[in-house]
Amino acid sequence: MDFFPTMQLGLIMKNILVTGGAGFIGSNFVRYLLKAEQNAHVYNLDALTYAGSLENLRNLPDDSRHTFIEGNICNLELIQTLLHNYPIDSIVHFAAESHVDRSILGPAPFMQTNVLGTFTLLEAARQVWGRERSDKRFHHVSTDEVFGSLSAHEAAFTESTPYDPRSPYSASKASSDHLVRAYFHTYQLPVTITNCSNNYGAYQFPEKLIPLMIMNALQGKPLPVYGDGLQIRDWLYVEDHCEAIYLALTKGTRGETYNVGGNNQLTNIELVKKICEILDELQPMQKPYASFIEHVTDRPGHDSRYAMDSTKIKNELGWTPSYTIERGLRETVEWHLSNSAWVKSGLARAGYDDWLDTNYQRRKEEL
Ligand code: NAD
Ligand code: DAU
Repeated sequence: MDFFPTMQLGLIMKNILVTGGAGFIGSNFVRYLLKAEQNAHVYNLDALTYAGSLENLRNLPDDSRHTFIEGNICNLELIQTLLHNYPIDSIVHFAAESHVDRSILGPAPFMQTNVLGTFTLLEAARQVWGRERSDKRFHHVSTDEVFGSLSAHEAAFTESTPYDPRSPYSASKASSDHLVRAYFHTYQLPVTITNCSNNYGAYQFPEKLIPLMIMNALQGKPLPVYGDGLQIRDWLYVEDHCEAIYLALTKGTRGETYNVGGNNQLTNIELVKKICEILDELQPMQKPYASFIEHVTDRPGHDSRYAMDSTKIKNELGWTPSYTIERGLRETVEWHLSNSAWVKSGLARAGYDDWLDTNYQRRKEEL
């Protein structure tokens, strides 16, 4: 990792500040960007919370065009210094507290990072970029959860669906979206927003459903399905998501929001059974993995269904997801099987065992 690069071989480089680039989607996006933009330099700002890890940034396509900065998006002085010292033309903002269950058990860090952190970044961009912003872009990465919950037959969320967040996490993300739009309307900060559905793929921390199920299964541990498991999510392979963000960043219209969905709606129980079938084939045990499924106490306020209508990004930017859930899940399971060092480091991350105890032990006792 190079610490002071701004130019290479006389070419003007694109300089992109990625926040949260040591997390799951952020690290996939850093990889994507280094491949897609051969002359870009990525400045990766991440606080390395429990969710971030430098293990996610090993073997980048071109490490010399990547500068890692350990720091917090709530630190205004730090962001101002970065924007002054480096010729940053784009900010792609991933950094967030991202896990709904954690927001239920402890909402304060969600307000701090997701609301105040986003505000701090916007304010630094407004101050440092000044009025000459024609070549600048602030892209905010958000979620389908801001739109609330759908019943089984309701139409998917569009960009004009009214906001109706229902967990501390989604309320904090909704607040951040409103702040981003306010900076566009009030100060003409050149922003774009993408709201996407549930991501999965390589480098996802095993607190989220898919990596948790894969890792528990490989250890012969119970597979904890909340409630009846009939909740529906619209699964989006992370590389498809990175492509959508890249298109919104480079071709999207300022001030616009784009919904990004995976076209893969499944109930949780169907999804977990699919993972079990793939594992039965690739890494068979004495008994089928599905026999480890346990129904546990439901999540309070559990949203029953999310679904995204991606017509706008398809029509305006030509994006459609390329992964079916079958292909994406198989590649994700294969990735976990062939990246045992990463799996080991994920399971060993500070506080992970405590989290499993806090979140799952009590659930079992309550059922
Ligand atoms: P993640 O939890 O894997 O990673 C978050 C990263 O942000 C970590 O590296 C963490 O260290 C960093 N971070 C947290 N607080 C910070 C702070 N105050 N300052 C600097 N860095 C900080 O999250 P993810 O799943 O990669 O999600 C990335 C973004 O995408 C989030 O904004 C999330 O709301 C959004 N999103 C995620 C999904 C999904 O399915 N994972 C779906 C829709 C939207
Ligand atoms: O919809 C987008 C959102 O997707 C993102 O904004 C969030 O950052 C991301 O965490 C994710 O939120 P979910 O709550 O949908 O994801 P999670 O992986 O935690 O859970 C997916 C579904 O699986 C949900 O219905 C709860 C259920 N679940 C989850 C876990 C961890 C279980 O049944 N058992 C589990 O152990």
